Amino acid sequence: MNKSAYDIDIFLKDYVDKNSKFSFDRALALKEKFKYKKITSILDLACGTGLFLNEMVKSFDLEYGVGVDLSANMIKYAKKHNQSSKLKFVKGDMTNFSLEKTFDLITCNYDAINHLIMFEDWQKMFNNVYSHLKIGGVFTFDYNTLLKLKNFSRTSYYEYEEYNCVWHNTNENDRFNFDFSYYIKQKNGEYKLIKSSQIESTFPYKLIATTLKQMGFKHIKFCNKDFKKCNPNKVFRCFVICEK
Ligand SMILES: C[S@@+](CC[C@H](N)C(=O)[O-])C[C@H]1O[C@@H](n2cnc3c(N)ncnc32)[C@H](O)[C@@H]1O
Repeated sequence: MNKSAYDIDIFLKDYVDKNSKFSFDRALALKEKFKYKKITSILDLACGTGLFLNEMVKSFDLEYGVGVDLSANMIKYAKKHNQSSKLKFVKGDMTNFSLEKTFDLITCNYDAINHLIMFEDWQKMFNNVYSHLKIGGVFTFDYNTLLKLKNFSRTSYYEYEEYNCVWHNTNENDRFNFDFSYYIKQKNGEYKLIKSSQIESTFPYKLIATTLKQMGFKHIKFCNKDFKKCNPNKVFRCFVICEK
């Protein structure tokens, strides 16, 4: 199996530089949404850097938060940058984990679910979420839609002081294919090339909705980032919220 892009230091640095704002904005939106709901615990699946979890535990004054991520590098980063006795970061697979705890809120942010290539794995993940959720607890995630997949092909170039990178995105075989090339500036002025790639999948919203319903989730809503109902066929990123 290829090394995950998240286990490559330069990719992780680039990820943190580009994406930290999403975590803070998401924590803010959830705080507003649940200002009248009693939430004492949170589980964040595919927690990445842990910044979102830390922000949630601080702003909701939660008793505890657990983050699970497959990448050892991400877990190392999360532990180093979010030190609190209320936080726990665990290396694990969101399709197959057992924490022997239940939570008021379970999240999976920033299209992390699209990393699960087979729909069977989305089902396994939903099943695990269901068994780790308290009755009345909330599950929310966001995903890249079929519309985004159709419009995915493009090449982007970014230039920074320490490195430059080219992201080549294609939508071959109904998958999101990312090809990353990082050119890292060396002390002697030359550049070292590091390449990596990643694949993501997406599925029709009706299949997602039916599966969640069959598993027992209630009040399933497809919405925008501010929890306003939306048509998943008309947006690139769709947020889903439901309850046990
Ligand atoms: C796009 S990042 C999102 C990280 C974080 N949720 C955020 O909002 O910044 C995707 C994350 O999913 C993790 N991941 C991918 N497959 C996973 C799996 N099967 N189980 C747990 N984590 C996984 C990756 O290691 C990576 O940290």
